[in-house]
Amino acid sequence: MTQTQQPSSDPSAAQPSTSPRPRAARAGLEPGWTVEDSLDLYNVRQWGKGFFDVNEGGHVIVRPTRTPGAEIDLLEVVRGMRDRGLKTPVLLHFGDLLARRLNDMSEAFRGAIKENGYRGEYVAVYPVKVNQQRRVVEEVRRYGTPLGFGLEVGSKPELLAVLGMTSDTPDRLIVCNGFKEDRYIEFVLLAAKLGRSIIPVIENITELKLIMKYADRFHTRPRIGVRVNLSASGAGRWRHSSGVKAKFGLSLTEVLEVFELLKANGMQDCLQLLHCHMGSQIHDIRNITQGVSELTRIYAHLVRMGAGMKYLDVGGGMGIDYDGSQTSFEFSTNYSLSEYASSVVYKVMTICDEEGVEHPTIVTESGRAMVAQQSVLVFEALGANRPDRVEVPSALPAPAPGEEELPRAIIDLWDAYRAVTERRLLECYHDALEARDESIRTFAVGYMTLEHRALAERLFYATCAKIRDKCRDMNSVPEDLVDIEASLSDTYFCNLSIFQSLPDIWAIQQLFPILPIHRLNEKPSRRATLADITCDSDGKIDRFVDDHDVKKCVELHDFVEGEPYYLAAFLVGAYQETLGDLHNLFGDTHVAHVKLDENGQWWIDEIVEGDSVREVLGYVQYDVNRLSAEIRRECERAVRQKQMTVSESQELVRAYESGLSGYTYLETDD
Ligand SMILES: Cc1ncc(COP(=O)(O)O)c(C=O)c1O
Repeated sequence: MTQTQQPSSDPSAAQPSTSPRPRAARAGLEPGWTVEDSLDLYNVRQWGKGFFDVNEGGHVIVRPTRTPGAEIDLLEVVRGMRDRGLKTPVLLHFGDLLARRLNDMSEAFRGAIKENGYRGEYVAVYPVKVNQQRRVVEEVRRYGTPLGFGLEVGSKPELLAVLGMTSDTPDRLIVCNGFKEDRYIEFVLLAAKLGRSIIPVIENITELKLIMKYADRFHTRPRIGVRVNLSASGAGRWRHSSGVKAKFGLSLTEVLEVFELLKANGMQDCLQLLHCHMGSQIHDIRNITQGVSELTRIYAHLVRMGAGMKYLDVGGGMGIDYDGSQTSFEFSTNYSLSEYASSVVYKVMTICDEEGVEHPTIVTESGRAMVAQQSVLVFEALGANRPDRVEVPSALPAPAPGEEELPRAIIDLWDAYRAVTERRLLECYHDALEARDESIRTFAVGYMTLEHRALAERLFYATCAKIRDKCRDMNSVPEDLVDIEASLSDTYFCNLSIFQSLPDIWAIQQLFPILPIHRLNEKPSRRATLADITCDSDGKIDRFVDDHDVKKCVELHDFVEGEPYYLAAFLVGAYQETLGDLHNLFGDTHVAHVKLDENGQWWIDEIVEGDSVREVLGYVQYDVNRLSAEIRRECERAVRQKQMTVSESQELVRAYESGLSGYTYLETDD
């Protein structure tokens, strides 16, 4: 896939193409560049929050517990995986980081509770839908149970999974959201009879009637929650999760109706939890405090009306600072975890005090904020397309046979190329554009040879490259030239599927920090967008985190044929794994659960191998045995008809079988 480039015959070309230089020589090109420069360039310390850094060797490291010295070199892990026969793309999970994050959350709330003299408690429930992978949920449980944390489910399958894995912790809260039919409600009430601390949250009046029906049948007094639509709309992309047009939850009139129905049946004490969900990745703390204020007022009214209220569930929505700017930018948050905790605790407390009601147990359903940081997706660049590395002749060629002179467009492009100076950037750019368009027209009507058309293309790119290089040194770039950098950027082809591994990039234009995991002691000399290996032009990444902004290219190192170049997308632990799809039949990637031992050494606790071709074909209902039999039959026919030798046919059969067992991604040789 790599575009092979020839050396430029013009030494003045903006980006003269050369054959790959040895590593030491390349590093030596930028003697002043240090790891600190890379840390700044990719803003690692800002979004890394102490979990991610770069070591002296220029490799990205993970400090799962934020303890200096206890660190994991990502490149070492990737090499370790290769030694075990597993290649990239690979998703790395850091369970110790998850444990640290759950502790941080618990400490933030307990600290706020203590500081404010709050008299209620705090419980976090992990919304399983944010990452349902068994191992992740098990780890949330393992590390969260001692902190008093529970789980949240949003569907019947999630409920059944959670019921089956929590028998040893019946007292930990399970909050049940989502649409519920008879079976779902039946499971919840029977689980309560089993002794589970489980609360169904009513999303509509029908659900309440079902709860009452099964409560009667099983002679039980269920604990019930109700989800209310706040009038304060949330913020960010998921702001419509609340407000009058929200898909879920009850209006205030319906909440009162629920209360009256319960009261009429002598069950008002069963109404114990008030819930809202203001949206995900809420970037402005003011939206959170407004919503919490409104929720607490409603809570206080319900208490005074005689409901058995105990829990105030503020839902999810705590954001992740993907760009490290700590601002109210869409991909950031203008608050920290501790500010979130103290704002929520303080608001609930002051309103409850004003209203004269007891402080409730505060429940959060933060998912993204719990699990996003624990996963890193590592993938390899396979090659690069570099449009600015074009060969430009040192003099114009002679006209084509039969032509008296060179086409006008070529001469104009040549002049523009030679004339680029700081003072004439715009003029040269406009001239080059016009001449390029002219060359397209001339070729289309048959008045230009293919060679001349190709030369026009090269001259155009070389002119743009010269202009771009001059722009890089300018404080302010003319408007027409702003996009020249992006339009000349490289495309690095990467062995991954955006649709499978980073679906939010495609679906909702989500940004994740993306950078090389090695060579960070070398200046990245190229600016690039990334293309995946799906046959889909949407399978690309052309928006990257910048400090409080979005940039169209990411700085990368020159791609060297034959040398592995690994990149990683960080903070990908929330929502990506199960939202991913099988576009082009690229399946689940390998997943490695990497841990630290007591001496600070990393080890691989569990490897979950990615889908094989056989498996993904099965998912889309192919009978793989029939496919194999068909190939064998065809090979035998080809042998009989002397199209193939027996050994060739055997080679094909073997390759087919091993292809079926192989990884769905490109399997590059070592
Ligand atoms: C009801 C509910 N709770 C919690 C969450 C988790 O939200 P987040 O991951 O933004 O914290 C969601 C996600 O949309 C949700 O719908």
